[in-house]
Amino acid sequence: MKSLISIDDLKDDDIGRLFYRARSITHVMPKKFEDAVMMTAFFEPSTRTRLSFEMAALRMSIKVTSFFAPSSSLQKGETVDETIKNLLALSPDILVIRHNEKLNLGPCEHAIINAGDGTNEHPTQALLDCFTLLNHFQTDDLRHKRILIIGDLAHSRVAHSNIKLMKRMGAQITLLAPDEWRMPETDLRSISSFKQCDGDYDAVMCLRIQKERLPEADSFIENAYFFHYGLNSERLSKLGKNCVVLHPGPMNLGLEIDAEVASCERSLIEQQVKNGVLIRAALIEHCLLRGP
Ligand code: CP
Repeated sequence: MKSLISIDDLKDDDIGRLFYRARSITHVMPKKFEDAVMMTAFFEPSTRTRLSFEMAALRMSIKVTSFFAPSSSLQKGETVDETIKNLLALSPDILVIRHNEKLNLGPCEHAIINAGDGTNEHPTQALLDCFTLLNHFQTDDLRHKRILIIGDLAHSRVAHSNIKLMKRMGAQITLLAPDEWRMPETDLRSISSFKQCDGDYDAVMCLRIQKERLPEADSFIENAYFFHYGLNSERLSKLGKNCVVLHPGPMNLGLEIDAEVASCERSLIEQQVKNGVLIRAALIEHCLLRGP
């Protein structure tokens, strides 16, 4: 693996090594990359992903430079493709990109990390989510773990990467979504109501409603969504007494999940954010040691 655009770019060995490394570095980062430069280029807003990449890099003594779209030559008419070509021509050791469309970069000699591309994938989010579950369950895989994913499956890059990775790790996944947001052509169990949940689950992941990606004609009514699909304490208790809660963030409290559940003791949401730094540090280290 030189670049990480999709979970498919990772071999099973890569995944195992990244988790092992993330666990071992904990908060003591290897400070040995003083000569390296990481560039972040976020064409879409971000809090967790951009800053956890930057925190990880800074803790490893890597220099960080950031592309900022509103003050860039995009404003003078340069295309996104031309912009990315120029960012790569500046030769950062690693380029971390988030964009609102699927990245189509083709074969590339640079180390590029996808920080979320449109509705396509968000591979580092999936890595940190699975890492969080493995640490919680104290296991090396997700075999026999029942995971419920709720929400906007059609538009969620987090769901797309997580489903790929969780399947590879052996999880039994159930998808819960309104009919219009179902995932097309999936072999996973798909349901459209909490009443169809059967038995206990080990984890539930609420997805953010991707308001910015919904067609204008989509008749999305916030109150109705929470009424049918929002996670509250009553629903969580029916999913099993040990079911833990994940949300990739940013949360729309009172829409996908209520504030009480988001901060309850079974919530791993803050841990997901903390683990984001570890996973991204392990990935940055991997890219730098492998070289371009
Ligand atoms: N989970 C996630 O991608 O959050 P940000 O948009 O804040 O980076």
